[in-house]
Amino acid sequence: MAKEINTIGVLTSGGDAPGMNAAIRAVVREAIGKGKKVKGIKRGYAGLLQEEIIDMKPRNVSDTIQRGGTILQTARCLEFTTPEGQQLGAEVCRKHGIDGMIVVGGDGSFRGAQKLASLGINTIGIPGTIDLDIACTEYTIGFDTAVNTAMEAIDKVRDTSTSHERCSIIEVMGRGAGFIALWTGIANGAEDILLPERYDYDEQKLVNHIIENRKRGKQHHIIINAEGIGHSASMARRIEAATGIETRATILGHMQRGGSPTCKDRVYASIMGAYAVDLLCQGKSNRVVAYRNGDYVDFDIDEALAMQKGIPEYQFEVCKNLSI
Ligand code: ADP
Ligand code: F6P
Repeated sequence: MAKEINTIGVLTSGGDAPGMNAAIRAVVREAIGKGKKVKGIKRGYAGLLQEEIIDMKPRNVSDTIQRGGTILQTARCLEFTTPEGQQLGAEVCRKHGIDGMIVVGGDGSFRGAQKLASLGINTIGIPGTIDLDIACTEYTIGFDTAVNTAMEAIDKVRDTSTSHERCSIIEVMGRGAGFIALWTGIANGAEDILLPERYDYDEQKLVNHIIENRKRGKQHHIIINAEGIGHSASMARRIEAATGIETRATILGHMQRGGSPTCKDRVYASIMGAYAVDLLCQGKSNRVVAYRNGDYVDFDIDEALAMQKGIPEYQFEVCKNLSI
């Protein structure tokens, strides 16, 4: 028989992402609506080990759906990657009566969730990362806001780049993944996108492309460089020397992680938060909520972590084809 859950813990872990608050709010209100208690764990697994645990009531999440960041704060915690740390985490849950846990984060956070589940705490993961690099899902909380923020910033760089007839290298986040670069590449009409999954490090090809484009009358050349490739400043110096075209590098950085979540991030995060509570109420554990083919679904965390995700070839081709 499925274990009945009475108290649900919720934490955010890894990099914050706009929309995490909408997920927390949904967890709190869906759970309380179903007669459960909710405890918020501050600063991810680090706060769990330090017992930074607070009661969450519906009013604690008032006025949060529109806010960036995470009201529970987040952290990366080395200690939780050790068996001793994980044991301690499960003991802290038991001490505070937490029999169900919802972890909002990326793959690393799900590995932690998997460990908690194996130690008897029913645990559900919700994908929260601006990087979109979780294989089982087509949507992750924060990606939509981050690409919109990056897109607006790149439009601004493009204005000045065109005025000065420059080449601009704009570095976007994404850790080892190129999804933010791919999407902004299409949305901003970039002349080149450098993705960790695709870039061949042939800088001469890039130089030739810039020179050809200038001959074709292009007044700027926007290169979106994913942080997984990085080194935008030195790349700019080399490109300027090789092309004779003034080149500037802009690293967008952490601005991509902040700001008020878009409508999409608020809605999807809210549904995922409620869905995670429903899974716990059905006695499920070691599951991750996902969005696939137009539907909210869930996968076993072990299966989800074993899945692979790549850059869609057609989208990459379209991005290149439209930059002529
Ligand atoms: P993300 O969740 O965005 O992928 P990280 O990879 O930084 O971010 O992971 C967040 C946290 O999850 C880590 O600081 C650590 O506490 C926990 N974590 C990561 N990997 C593991 C693991 N193999 N076992 C247990 N916990 C882990
Ligand atoms: O995973 C989200 C992310 O913003 C990545 O895009 C980036 O590589 C990383 O986190 C940056 O982490 P930090 O905030 O620790 O510098």
